[in-house]
Amino acid sequence: MENKPLITIAFDGFSSSGKSTMAKSLAKKIGYAYIDTGAMYRAVTLYCIENNLFDGQDLDTSELERQMDRIHITFRVNSEGKSETYLNGKNVEKEIRLMPVSSKVSIVAAVPFVRRALVKQQQEMGKGKGIVMDGRDIGTVVFPDAEMKVYVNASPETRARRRYDELQAKGDTSVTYEDVYKNVCERDYIDSHREENPLRKADDAIELDNSNMTIGEQDEWLLNLYESIINKLRK
Ligand code: DC
Repeated sequence: MENKPLITIAFDGFSSSGKSTMAKSLAKKIGYAYIDTGAMYRAVTLYCIENNLFDGQDLDTSELERQMDRIHITFRVNSEGKSETYLNGKNVEKEIRLMPVSSKVSIVAAVPFVRRALVKQQQEMGKGKGIVMDGRDIGTVVFPDAEMKVYVNASPETRARRRYDELQAKGDTSVTYEDVYKNVCERDYIDSHREENPLRKADDAIELDNSNMTIGEQDEWLLNLYESIINKLRK
């Protein structure tokens, strides 16, 4: 097999933009590891809920700071080859995708010491390159030197519809499309207006609006971009 240079690939964008599907699919095709950094913020949020650090939407940040080093997040590949999130040794992959976590995760993701701890862990995971990482601040903060940066966009309606369909498929029938749409808009606002590492497109990121693209079209677009970057690096 020909030897291709290993690179770092950063995917950023709003929630439910389809980032993870395309990032995962690209990683699989090119044999790279895939890291979903949103899952890490979600796992910390689940920890906060389970340990009563929330009073409604109020988070006890001093207590969370004291407990931060008790939170261990890892990823393990299951028998179907899918990466799953573990919180202190427990598989939480399903729970972290449900509404109780979704409705509080932006609050946790805005806490500076939480971001610092997770960013450090993410940089450690990607230091050998050959990684596809998806999140909000990957191209701007975690890996500002990534060779390939993609900023994914899609309308809030398209994204809410996707998240709603996903929840339905998982059997969560307690939420309406309107609930999901509201949650998507709220998170968009918090994620792009927070002080610490807000979501923004890196100057050198390539924008992809996939509102009207099929999965096949997205995959092809990404593979072409990856190949063209690799070819440039070889020259
Ligand atoms: O991608 P997602 O919807 O699973 O992300 C969950 C939340 O975590 C979302 O509100 C934004 C936040 N997040 C972040 O602030 N930085 C990241 N690198 C990834 C996610």
